[in-house]
Amino acid sequence: MNTTRLGRASLRAVTPTIPSRGVQSKAPRPKKPTTKPPPTRKQFNPELKRFQERFEAKEAQSKPNGGIPPRVLTFLGISALTISTYCGYLYASYQRQVSKGQALDLPTDVSDRYNTTAPTFDADVELSEKAMRLGSKRADLVRMARGDVLEVSCGTGRNLEYYDLGERRGLDSTDRLGVIGCRSLTFVDLSPQMVAITKEKFEALRPDFKRVAFRAQDAGSVSVELKGLRGSTGSKEGEYYDTIVQTMGLCSMPDPVGTLRHLGEITEPKRGRILLLEHGRSHYDWLNRILDNLAPTHADRHGCWWNRDIGAIVRESGLEIVEEKRWHLGTTWRYVLKPRQN
Ligand SMILES: C[S@@+](CC[C@H](N)C(=O)[O-])C[C@H]1O[C@@H](n2cnc3c(N)ncnc32)[C@H](O)[C@@H]1O
Repeated sequence: MNTTRLGRASLRAVTPTIPSRGVQSKAPRPKKPTTKPPPTRKQFNPELKRFQERFEAKEAQSKPNGGIPPRVLTFLGISALTISTYCGYLYASYQRQVSKGQALDLPTDVSDRYNTTAPTFDADVELSEKAMRLGSKRADLVRMARGDVLEVSCGTGRNLEYYDLGERRGLDSTDRLGVIGCRSLTFVDLSPQMVAITKEKFEALRPDFKRVAFRAQDAGSVSVELKGLRGSTGSKEGEYYDTIVQTMGLCSMPDPVGTLRHLGEITEPKRGRILLLEHGRSHYDWLNRILDNLAPTHADRHGCWWNRDIGAIVRESGLEIVEEKRWHLGTTWRYVLKPRQN
């Protein structure tokens, strides 16, 4: 028996038929899916899910009050405590001042306080005037002064820097051609200490301007003779001032209505003006109640009645109102007045 032949035959019988390359490529291949179906969360990453659950549990623990984080809650708590403590302190000192004021028996005239407060007056009012931007209000008013000018209740001369010195022809504040600038200046205050400070400041500020006078005198009895300054230049019409300025003065004088009437009598009747920047009652009752309650202690300390109705004083004086403005909840009043024509 030829073993070689036998062996080949049996080998053929057990060896599976391996199709040739050409045959295999012709057979239809099973289609591969192009996109996998999205796995569910569970299938996708159970580890991630556990992490998320732990995170959510922690979050819920840290926001016990409607979701506000504890740090914010602590901050809000401390702020509320600080504000309420401060308000409590303010209220307690307000009550103290009110009862102290009720116990005071004050005269209406407390203007002598300025004799002692004069040296610290500027420092005392500086901050509040800055906060209220009173500098620009003073400047706007005082720049209107022209001709022979009288400033009453001049205090420490807080308006000095705003005067336009030297009379000349030019455009006035309403852009009309006319005589502008101050020809002479006369400063009056009841307190000699205040006048001395104004004088010192003026001489440092404008040493060149010589038509200036300073008097310690009651504004309610200022006489036109003070215009001796004018006489020296052989001046014009009559015994009047062209402009009278007063800032924050009606609050301090015992007879504000009488003083305004007097100032009206010494203001040039046709073109003369009285320029006022004052402080007093507000538009609001709640604020007026506070001003009223604290008025006695404030007047006793500072010499000023801050709860006066400036509008009522002006109307009662009989002067004609050319312009009226109010700021700061109505507590700051500006007036341009002129003598009433009979
Ligand atoms: C609140 S201070 C204002 C000072 C200054 N006019 C100002 O705007 O800063 C009030 C001033 O009015 C003065 N005064 C009070 N009564 C007066 C009076 N009857 N005649 C003139 N001055 C008076 C006080 O001496 C004080 O200087």
